[in-house]
Amino acid sequence: MWAILRPNSIAVVGASRDPSKIGSRILRNILSSGFQGVVYGVNPNASEVLGVRCYPSVLDVPGAVDLAVVAVPARFVPQVVEECGRKGVKAVAVISSGFKEVGNTDLEKEVVEIAKKHGIRILGPNIVGVWDTRTPINYSFIDANPLPGSVAFISQSGALMTSLLWWTRERGIGFSCLVSIGNRADVGEADLLALLREDPRTKVVAIYIEGLGLGEGRKFLDEALETSTVKPVIVLKAGRSEAAVEAIRSHTGSLAGSDEVYEAALKQARALRAASLRELFNWALALALSPEPGEGTAVILTHGGGAGVIAADVLNGMGVPLAPLPQDLQERLRKFMPPFGSARNPVDLTGMMTAESLRGALVEVLRDPRVGAVLVWAGQGAIPTPEELGEAVVSAVREVGLAKPLIVSITGGGECREVLKRLIQAGVPSYESPEDAASALAAVYRYYRRRRERKGEPARVEGDRARAKEILGRARAEGRVLLTPVESFEVARAYGIPVVEYAFAPDLETAAKAARVIGYPVALAVETPDIAHKTDVGGIALNIKSEEELRAAYAKVMEVFARNVPKARVFGVSVRKMMPRGFEAFVGARRDPVFGPVVSFGWGGVMVELVRDFSLRVAPLTQDDIEDMIEETKAGKVLKGYRGPPLDVEAVKNIVASVASLMEDFEEISSVDANPIFVYEKGAVAVDVKVYLKA
Ligand code: ACO
Repeated sequence: MWAILRPNSIAVVGASRDPSKIGSRILRNILSSGFQGVVYGVNPNASEVLGVRCYPSVLDVPGAVDLAVVAVPARFVPQVVEECGRKGVKAVAVISSGFKEVGNTDLEKEVVEIAKKHGIRILGPNIVGVWDTRTPINYSFIDANPLPGSVAFISQSGALMTSLLWWTRERGIGFSCLVSIGNRADVGEADLLALLREDPRTKVVAIYIEGLGLGEGRKFLDEALETSTVKPVIVLKAGRSEAAVEAIRSHTGSLAGSDEVYEAALKQARALRAASLRELFNWALALALSPEPGEGTAVILTHGGGAGVIAADVLNGMGVPLAPLPQDLQERLRKFMPPFGSARNPVDLTGMMTAESLRGALVEVLRDPRVGAVLVWAGQGAIPTPEELGEAVVSAVREVGLAKPLIVSITGGGECREVLKRLIQAGVPSYESPEDAASALAAVYRYYRRRRERKGEPARVEGDRARAKEILGRARAEGRVLLTPVESFEVARAYGIPVVEYAFAPDLETAAKAARVIGYPVALAVETPDIAHKTDVGGIALNIKSEEELRAAYAKVMEVFARNVPKARVFGVSVRKMMPRGFEAFVGARRDPVFGPVVSFGWGGVMVELVRDFSLRVAPLTQDDIEDMIEETKAGKVLKGYRGPPLDVEAVKNIVASVASLMEDFEEISSVDANPIFVYEKGAVAVDVKVYLKA
């Protein structure tokens, strides 16, 4: 895999004699990128291109080849990869388009199969190429290079990567590498995360994702989590509105559109999710250059109240509140401002600020151990000039060093751009707008905060697998996709989920007997494998207080149900104890095509779709994941005692763990929905459970 970034020898397959063609451009870029290794050309119609010796096929190349870069029409790629395999090449980057992206899925599969057979890793196809500033190498067809630095950027979109090359150069943002992964037929984000985690030159991994492949989500999550423990992972995931397109089944597990699942998975991975390209690179820059924030408060140092307030708002909104500075520090800062300045926080040096007073105040806050991080905002004015502002910052940094994050924003005209770039070169993340600076600083805080969070103990429940398997197997054998209420209760019970006391009754007399044992009041529900929401069709009777009422209710329920859904099968009824109402929560789960089992918790009851108060996590879960799920919701606040006594949170957590384990253990379950769950001060009981099987 390393050969993708750091090859010693390269063969360019399709090294064209025509200088305007991609194969020729790649070869030229490799030669001009300062690459120190050996380069070969492969072209059956040429013996030399751009001074590089060419061979008819990879097999004819005399020396070893670490990496083959392929730029021949798609239909020739399988043969080229086969030859690479026979030559012993282990990494192949396929620049060529014309595969899955245009519906040629079989051709792409063929290439991957040949590669697998030979133990080759394939990057692409359909990529713009790769830049690594350490090697250094540029084997893309774009003749521009990024600035060297410590951000690694992985992108599914080649065009985006190319345009960002210039955008980031303008701003002084440097890269360790840029990897275009295109159709990601083999090498994907997860592989590159594992690789870049080990790369000391890469301090931040920034990723642009359109969508992960089916079933790849968990691997990505695990690699991102592992990487986040040593360096920040920032993700821009496109397609937030996908949620709307997701087919929504009318049960709680499916409230999650796929974007919500990505959101949850990125949280679990302790990755930062950027909302825009600008945020992605602004944050990457700040994280690449900044150390961990110190213990004390963040400080805003400014000469304009307005920008100070704007920055403070952004910091606050992203969970970085500002505390007033200690009195003695305020006293010292007063030396650098007129009497009408403010030394609290934001520190306002006022319009009287000079380059010297900015420098002096900055030295004070950088030096004071009770300050965790510093944000400086200055606007272009007549005095000091943007150059003088930049000089003042650099001079303060030279004197004190950078043991805490320092982020600068200078707002003004074109002159500021150059100053910001020089500050970045001096190791100070700098931005035009105060909002960008504040959001970048908040991202630094957020990353280090998340990194400190524990990974948590696994939240596994070992259920009675044999019992659950038997019930699920029976339903499957009958070709059903929905378990009956009684079957659902039994599966839930097998996994330790407390369910309401119930009994199955095939006829009225058995129901009456069961009610006597359970004790009135009871509820009746038609036992059917065909209808999930029985209330809607009159299949449920609640609060039955006597045998007389039970007999009447039985007759009515059967009659109304049969009238409303004459085709539904009826096995009898379930008799359930009427439980006193508790707080109504729900726990659900569904199988996401990318991430696998996704578990949800939230405010339950019949209004669940309307209330939409829920949180999600991808299973397997840790205890911390479950704790976070509860924390994120309003329902969680009620459980912890909002205007009332605290309720049994532990019982709810156990149900979440049970549902997750059930989903992990049985691939054939497509979703589970325990709603409502009555939560009491002591204990919790699932009053209704639905288990769906894959069709
Ligand atoms: N082995 C070695 N060389 C070969 C082979 C082979 N099997 N077959 C052909 N060649 C040589 C040809 O002789 C030719 O060299 P010549 O010009 O000296 O005769 C050279 O390889 C190129 O072959 P062409 O058939 O001329 O192909 P062309 O250069 O027109 O196109 C390419 C090939 C660039 C790979 C094209 O098929 C393609 O896929 N283009 C799109 C690439 C792309 O956009 N990628 C995604 C980027 S991401 C983004 O969005 C920007």
